[in-house]
Amino acid sequence: METVRSIVELKEKLDAVNASCKIAFVPTMGALHEGHIKLLQLAKLNGAFTICSIFVNPTQFNDQNDYELYPRNLETDANLLNKNNCDLLFTPDVAEIYPANSNIPTYLLGSLETKLEGQYRPGHFQGVCQVVDRLLSLISPDYLYLGKKDYQQCLVIEKMLQNTRYSKKIELVKVNTVRRTDGLALSSRNLRLSTNGLSIAHKLYESIQSAANSFKEGMSWSEIETYHIQKLLTIGFDKIDYFTCYDAINFKPIFEKNNQQSIILAAVYLEGIRLIDNLEIL
Ligand code: PAF
Repeated sequence: METVRSIVELKEKLDAVNASCKIAFVPTMGALHEGHIKLLQLAKLNGAFTICSIFVNPTQFNDQNDYELYPRNLETDANLLNKNNCDLLFTPDVAEIYPANSNIPTYLLGSLETKLEGQYRPGHFQGVCQVVDRLLSLISPDYLYLGKKDYQQCLVIEKMLQNTRYSKKIELVKVNTVRRTDGLALSSRNLRLSTNGLSIAHKLYESIQSAANSFKEGMSWSEIETYHIQKLLTIGFDKIDYFTCYDAINFKPIFEKNNQQSIILAAVYLEGIRLIDNLEIL
């Protein structure tokens, strides 16, 4: 694996990639885990030249403390990517991605921008679009790999891809969440949990699964929601931003079971760390 830090070097490496070879891109903020590696492995199975980026994007953090405390392990990450046969790692610094006086566009995201993650993290999705758009313009991949743990982020990027013109058509590949054996969704933020926190964190997924079963059996969502929010607070979670059920396609709340594909989404705090998870109900 080669590692480049500057756009000039990135362009040189990209120019040397065989023109007939597809390019697959896995954007990350580092602190890599098996979820990221699964994205890379699927990209490799696709036979593509694989590029990962590691860039902790300041514009998507609405909480400066969260940005500063975001885990950073560049050397460990690079070794892991190398072991998993990533072809190229791009680790730009902030000035490379956001040069002084550069014009940062605003993205039309409709109501996706103000719901759930958008409501609790104002400006977050504009920041995500800014960095992903910039990286896509630099790399010009054929495939973009994202994890479904960030389900709303996948919808936001899908919308941005529809509204933005790139030099190539970019296919978004959404990959299922990877979990620990106890069910906890892998996340870089899990690294900040204590052993006790980890023994509680997986109960979020247990609650989501149990809520899904109750919903499938016909219980109303408002009853389910009230019960599980209370239960999570009793178990030891500090705060619940949302524990909700949405139509998975048009991304609007639903309250009674119907034949549409739905999704339970939750965002909670544990030991001051914000965790999100979801489960699609077919
Ligand atoms: O999901 C993430 O890790 C980030 O939001 C992304 C897509 C790498 C953009 O910074």
